[in-house]
Amino acid sequence: MEIKLRPWIKTDAEHLAIIANNYNIAKFMMNQFPHPYTIENAYTFIEMSTKSSPSNILAIDLNGIAIGGIGVHLQSDIYCKNAELGYWLAEEYWGKGYITTAILLMINYAFDNFDIERIYAKPFGSNKGSKRVLEKTGFVLEAHLSKTIFKNNVYEDELIYAVRRKV
Ligand SMILES: CC(C)(COP(=O)(O)OP(=O)(O)OC[C@H]1O[C@@H](n2cnc3c(N)ncnc32)[C@H](O)[C@@H]1OP(=O)(O)O)[C@@H](O)C(=O)NCCC(=O)NCCS
Repeated sequence: MEIKLRPWIKTDAEHLAIIANNYNIAKFMMNQFPHPYTIENAYTFIEMSTKSSPSNILAIDLNGIAIGGIGVHLQSDIYCKNAELGYWLAEEYWGKGYITTAILLMINYAFDNFDIERIYAKPFGSNKGSKRVLEKTGFVLEAHLSKTIFKNNVYEDELIYAVRRKV
């Protein structure tokens, strides 16, 4: 069982539309992560993800199958040395440590390929699994903002975790 990061390819679309169409994933994501998640959403996403080079949005691959997504979103202007990390995994693969491996791979890839000094992630305060994963991968809690998120008619706390380039 080997976890790799690789670019999304068109032939991932059908499987992507199945695994991403899950409220248990969407509820912890930005609203731009569609729910329901259609095959059209999958093709649009895959096309968008392959536009930049080196790619900042990658598939989490387990033995040739895309089982989730991970990306670093490069910031601009005065935040140009920062990138926001986002990730999700198909529910059937939760609890096996795969996302921990994927995040560690992404940290190395992002610092090797982009001129950034800090990678941050902003899980909801209620997202216990995501908080634990960030702690396991070396992220440090930098801020806890109260009720800044409004999703599905509920206010949520926002946590800011970050990891810095090692000198
Ligand atoms: C977040 C997500 C990627 C984690 O995947 P996962 O496969 O469960 O992650 P792992 O198994 O590597 O680690 C999860 C850790 O959190 C812990 N955990 C999970 N749910 C928990 C809960 N409700 N309460 C406390 N701890 C919890 C697990 O025990 C594990 O810790 P351990 O290794 O010390 O036992 C997955 O749940 C997901 O895709 N969620 C929806 C999308 C999402 O939240 N994305 C992140 C947005 S910031």
